[in-house]
Amino acid sequence: MTRFCSAAGSVEINRAKADFFDAQANAQWANDNYTREEMEKIQKVLTTIPDLEGMTILEPGCGTGRMTSILSEQVGKQGKVVSFDISNRMIQNAENLLGEADNVELHCNGLEALNLKAASFDCVFSHQVFPHFDCKPTALKIMAHALKQRSWVLADSSSGRASILA
Ligand SMILES: C[S@@+](CC[C@H](N)C(=O)[O-])C[C@H]1O[C@@H](n2cnc3c(N)ncnc32)[C@H](O)[C@@H]1O
Repeated sequence: MTRFCSAAGSVEINRAKADFFDAQANAQWANDNYTREEMEKIQKVLTTIPDLEGMTILEPGCGTGRMTSILSEQVGKQGKVVSFDISNRMIQNAENLLGEADNVELHCNGLEALNLKAASFDCVFSHQVFPHFDCKPTALKIMAHALKQRSWVLADSSSGRASILA
C-alpha cells in the first residue's frame, strides 16, 4: 500500500526546511562547481535518456542553479527549464548565476505547492533533492501528473537527507 499525504501538509515542514537552506545558500557545497565524480555521475544519468535538446524540463530543488545551468545548455534555445526551490536565498543565487539564460524560469516555491499543468513536461530532473521531500509518494504523484507520456523522472542523490541536514 502506498500512503499519499496532503500536499498542504508539507507547507509548514517546507517553511522550516527553507530556513535551513536559506542559511546554507552561500555555503561552499551549494555554490562550488560539481566535482569530477559528481559530473561523471550526472553524465551517466543523462546517458540513460535521449538527447535533451528541445525538451521542457521541470527541476525541483534547483538550489543555486548549478544543475540548472547544465540543463539550460542541454535543452538549447528551443527547450525550456522550469526550476524552483523553497529557499528564497538559493533562488537569488540561481538568478545571479543564470542571469543571461533566456530558456530558464525560476520560482521560489515547494514542489507540493505548485499547480502544474498536466502532461506539460518531457522530463523531471531532480539532483540531490529527492531525500528532502516530506512525502515521497506525493512528490512522485505530482511529478507524474506534470509529465507527458513517455517521459522521465531522473532523481539523482548521492547522499541521504539525514547526512545532509546533520
Ligand atoms: C542538496 S540541495 C541540491 C540543490 C541543487 N539541486 C544542486 O544540485 O546543487 C537540495 C535543495 O532542494 C530544495 N528543496 C528541498 N525540499 C524541497 C521541496 N519540497 N520543493 C522544492 N525544493 C526543495 C532545498 O531548498 C535545496 O536548495
